[in-house]
Amino acid sequence: MTGLSDSFQRPINYLRISVTDRCNLRCIYCMPPGGVCLISHGEILTYEEIYTIAQAAAELGIDKIRLTGGEPLIRSGLPELIQMLAQIDAIDDISLTTNGTLLGGYAAELKQAGLRRVNVSLDTLKQDKFELITRCGNSLSEVLEGIEVARAVGLNPVKLNVVVMSGINDGELLDFAAKTIAEEWHVRFIELMPFAGETTPAPRFVSASEMRQRLESLGELEPCLPSIGNGPAKYFRLPHAKGTIGFITPVSEHFCFHCNRLRLTSDGKLRPCLLADDEIDLKQPLRSGISSAGLKQLIEEAVASKPLRHHMAEGHVPKERPFSQVGG
Ligand code: 5AD
Ligand code: SF4
Repeated sequence: MTGLSDSFQRPINYLRISVTDRCNLRCIYCMPPGGVCLISHGEILTYEEIYTIAQAAAELGIDKIRLTGGEPLIRSGLPELIQMLAQIDAIDDISLTTNGTLLGGYAAELKQAGLRRVNVSLDTLKQDKFELITRCGNSLSEVLEGIEVARAVGLNPVKLNVVVMSGINDGELLDFAAKTIAEEWHVRFIELMPFAGETTPAPRFVSASEMRQRLESLGELEPCLPSIGNGPAKYFRLPHAKGTIGFITPVSEHFCFHCNRLRLTSDGKLRPCLLADDEIDLKQPLRSGISSAGLKQLIEEAVASKPLRHHMAEGHVPKERPFSQVGG
């Protein structure tokens, strides 16, 4: 295997696959209140098509896959897709990002199918805030239950993603951090990225350095290595804590120079960068019978077109698709 690298010599070995743009929640940092225009079913890649792309990508050097959404567990038969992907020899890590609402019911089946681990979005530990942030029902208890079931069946480490928003959930920073002391919680605080559309209530940004300052009252944050994975988070541990605290800083300190990823949207576009609108279509060529060599060439083109970095700090945000179609 030669391995893939982009025009800035970054090794690219990680493919994030969005299996659906649909979601059962409406998080304020992700969607406008009325939801977003949905991609029609016929435009969504079938599992066979996803498998074909993953196989070609694996032959080029991709060895890690993450399934995302929308909410990936909304799509029926997801364990089947995982089983198919797990059969690709070169793929050694399959993970999932989920909002956790349906995780409890699926975790055992997902694990059995070959899923290794999950990241769960959990922005609050309070029911009223959960309703405010997700604009939906009362499923916080299901998310918490889902996290426990995932842990019990061995989808470890379960990482919890917290998008920190001023005046909304930043008052819970210490509560989340305290959870990492007593239990093996791996909490990652994420800086809010600007959302291209209208959203109410409008969430406000908190920088990771401010978060760190506020956490200092609990003790010194000791840098530590991630237990698994090669994402952009920087990890720390409070004194004698069982779990870890990570910070993801897309806004205050971009991590583009270590970017190792490509994204596939549910309608079959390869997206070289989360924060740029450029895409390369794979669906039409696939449906017109493109050869495996042709498909690999398109994947290589997408890798070669990865930009050096995003320009969010200068006010450039993607406009063509909401985050819910790109899987975060
Ligand atoms: N800012 C930061 N993170 C976001 N995500 C989605 N939208 C945003 C945003 N505006 C991330 C969250 C969520 C995952 C699916 O994508 O971490 O949990
Ligand atoms: Fe759904 Fe995740 Fe977007 Fe929330 S952030 S609306 S859970 S896709």
